[in-house]
Order: sequence, then structure tokens, then C-alpha cells
Amino acid sequence: MSEPRFLAACRRLPTDATPVWFMRQAGRYLPEYRAIREKCSLIEICQRPELAAEVTLQPVRALGVDAAILFADILLLAISLGVGLEFARGEGPVLQNLVRTIEDVRNLRSVNPEADLGYVMAAIKILRNELKDIPLIGFCGAPFTVASYIIEGGSSREFLRTKMMMYSDPQTWHALMTKLSGVLTDFLLAQIRAGAQAVQVFDSWVGALSPADYAAFVLPYSQQVLKNAEATGVPVIHFGTNTATLLPLMKEAGGSVIGLDWRIPLDKGWQVIGHDLAVQGNLDPAALFAPLPELRKHVHDILSRAAGRPGHIFNLGHGILQNTPVEKVRAVVEMVHEYRIDK
Ligand code: CP3
Repeated sequence: MSEPRFLAACRRLPTDATPVWFMRQAGRYLPEYRAIREKCSLIEICQRPELAAEVTLQPVRALGVDAAILFADILLLAISLGVGLEFARGEGPVLQNLVRTIEDVRNLRSVNPEADLGYVMAAIKILRNELKDIPLIGFCGAPFTVASYIIEGGSSREFLRTKMMMYSDPQTWHALMTKLSGVLTDFLLAQIRAGAQAVQVFDSWVGALSPADYAAFVLPYSQQVLKNAEATGVPVIHFGTNTATLLPLMKEAGGSVIGLDWRIPLDKGWQVIGHDLAVQGNLDPAALFAPLPELRKHVHDILSRAAGRPGHIFNLGHGILQNTPVEKVRAVVEMVHEYRIDK
């Protein structure tokens, strides 16, 4: 059998149609997910491999996407590090033992992914048996984005405490980033060994930084995670938002595919990155609430900017929003698969 189109596109090989999947394709916009969530917390779903596998498969069945992304969360690692994690109703993540000093960094537990996050690898093994010819994507957070949660205690707008650690106490910052990049590398490699056929590194909030700060405080740590994953030979997707000015540095950090958000036109972003890498993106998640003709315009605009060049994976510029109409998501899959460039 020929290589699945998602994996082929990651390697910039021509495909019969543009592959498509969605960040946060599992989740609350799907009624079958909500039915499980009524009985179990988010963390429980993640920690029960059969449930995590089931929830991973739901969007594959409902949408006809070209890849599955493992159902887990970038913050599960906080549990293993001894930080503690809760998802408060309607408030997003709440972390407990926050890291503010060098002592706090030293007190973080050492993590053995196979032992401490074994439930993630167990879900991957179940999924590889069930998925047949749909590739499975594993993932982790990038060191900066994970650090920001462990320092701030939850989602943040200004990242003030995070930046204050960089600027006022660089020794603690670099110690934390060294710790996180080591653990994240081990975690990603464990997922690949368990059977993940591609991995994505989520640096969702890195666009809060200037290029100079990214280069000084983040790049070497992301590079460690990305390059070690790339060395295994599986495609590595490097994703962030608000990254228009960071793209050249993100390329330097690593990844065989760079994720683009909707704030930059796809052709422009691809040009900045260079056509020697693949790109993923970049529909505005809000466009999924638009009437079909408007939605189609957005989808076709992105595909025409990709211009039939091998190495484009269609996705959103960030995750699917709550209350997104499922039929619109399904319609996008069809639009992408049916699209043909007029040569
Ligand atoms: O379908 C998939 O994409 C796979 C599963 C997945 C989840 N989280 C499950 C989840 C993935 C890939 C993530 C990554 C993640 N988690 C990121 C990076 C991607 C991004 O969106 O920027 C971040 C920043 C997190 C941290 C996180 N988890 C936040 C801020 C929240 C609360 C926000 C919200 O939407 O409520 C979560 C909760 C979370 N993780 C949900 C899901 C499906 C929400 C649904 C629920 O509570 O049941």
C-alpha cells in the first residue's frame, strides 16, 4: 500500500489530494465526546487508555480526516513533575505547586515517561491496532509553553511572571528550561517508540516573545526536543501562534513541518520558512462558524496559496473552538479533498 497522504505530505511528496486534520479535533464540539465527559473528567479520560483511544477515534469516524491526534494534554506532564494539575470547570487549567525559584526547580520530580506517563503509551498501542491506514500523531508542549503554565499557574495574557523570570532570574529560567527540555525529549521519544508515526510540538504561546528573546531564552531548548525527535526519522511538526516574526528562528529550532496560524497568508509564511520544509495550516477557527459560501472562500484561498506544491497539510491556525458546528468541520474535509488546482 502507498504511504498515507498525511505522511507523504510531511515529507513533501506529491499526494492525490491535500491531507487535512484539525488541532483539537476531539473535544466538546462533538456530542459523542460530551457524552463521555459527562461521566469522566478530562484527566480521567487521558489516564484511561481505552477511553483516550475511543475519544481519539471519534473525530476520525465523524469527519474523515487524514490523521488522528492522540487524546492527551500538554499539561499531563505537570502531574508527573509533582506540580499538580486540575481543570476547573469553565476556567481552564489550574496548576498547584508553581515554580518561582531555583529551589522549586530542584524540587521538580524526575520523570520516567514509560513509568509515569505509561497510560499515554498504552493508548498509542491500542490506537495503532485500531487505526489501520490512518496515521497517529503524538505530541507534547514545547518547553516555553509548558514553562509558562508551570510559572503562571494557568493560562496567561501577558506572561509577566514568565518574562520576569527570564529577565530577573535567568539562572532559574535556564535551569527550568533545561529540566523541561530533557523531560519533553524523553516523553516524545517514548511516544515514537510506542508507535506514534508523527509528532507535533505545541509552542502555542511563544508568539508573546520578541525574536531576540526567543533566540536567547527558548531556541536552544526547543531545538533539543525537535532535533532529537527528528533524528528518529518520523515527521516533526513545530507549531506556534502569532509567530510571523519568529518563523526563521522556529525553522532554525527544528521541525520538518512548520505550523502557521491565520494571521499570515500561507504563501507568505511558506516563503519566509523556505520551500525546503512542509507547512501546516492555516484556517481561522472562527471561519468554521461562517456560512458555507464564506467558509469555502477561506478554504479555497488557502489551497490556492499552497498552489499545488507538495508539502501542504491543511489544518486550522489553532484549535477547534467550543460550539463549532460539526457539519462545517466535515464540509471543510470534503472541500479540501475535492479541491484540484487548475493548471
Ligand atoms: O484533539 C486533540 O487536539 C488532542 C487532544 C489535545 C487536548 N489538548 C485535549 C484537551 C491536545 C493536542 C491538547 C494540547 C493543549 N493543551 C495545548 C496546545 C494546543 C493549543 O490549543 O494551544 C494547550 C495550550 C493545552 C492546555 C489546555 N488544555 C488548556 C488551556 C485547556 C483549557 C481550554 C479549554 O478549551 O477548555 C485544556 C483542556 C483541554 N485539553 C480540552 C481538550 C479537548 C478541553 C475539553 C474538556 O475540558 O473536556
